[in-house]
Amino acid sequence: MKEIKIESTLTVFDDFNELPKDIASLMEQAIEARKKAYAPYSKFLVGAAIALENGEVITGSNQENASYPSGLCAERTAIYYAGAKYPNVKMKTMAIVAGSTTQQTMVPIPPCGACRQAIAEYEVNQNEAIEIYFMGETGKVVKSNSLANLLPLGFDKSAL
Ligand code: THU
Repeated sequence: MKEIKIESTLTVFDDFNELPKDIASLMEQAIEARKKAYAPYSKFLVGAAIALENGEVITGSNQENASYPSGLCAERTAIYYAGAKYPNVKMKTMAIVAGSTTQQTMVPIPPCGACRQAIAEYEVNQNEAIEIYFMGETGKVVKSNSLANLLPLGFDKSAL
């Protein structure tokens, strides 16, 4: 018997203004996408923007439904759109911004487990890391160099 230790390293930026220019621009697009969220039930609005290798940016926002489980997170809305529109183009970076309309969200909001699983599918297939940046409405921005850092021991096609 032995124990194994799993470690992840993340980078924390003090705020939006500390981001490199290209990332700030991608985050701005996530902020714009967040404004189009349809979240009348949770009042929690999320925007995501994905920079592709071909220079395109694909955005998405959460889309809720009166039948709650039928809604979809912003990250999956964006990544499925990117996968559907450009099936063979690598995804480089995803920027995510999230916050409630009922209180100010000042902490970085990481993607939910289901979204991590969905992003992992594309990262594994393209065999190249997808960088993830996430933030609340204000405050710190967290960067993960790859989705794998956010989903250790992930399940993927190698198991099948
Ligand atoms: N949501 C996202 O869009 N992304 C996440 O990673 C977490 C949650 C959405 C789903 C739902 O519309 C609302 O936030 C509250 O859970």
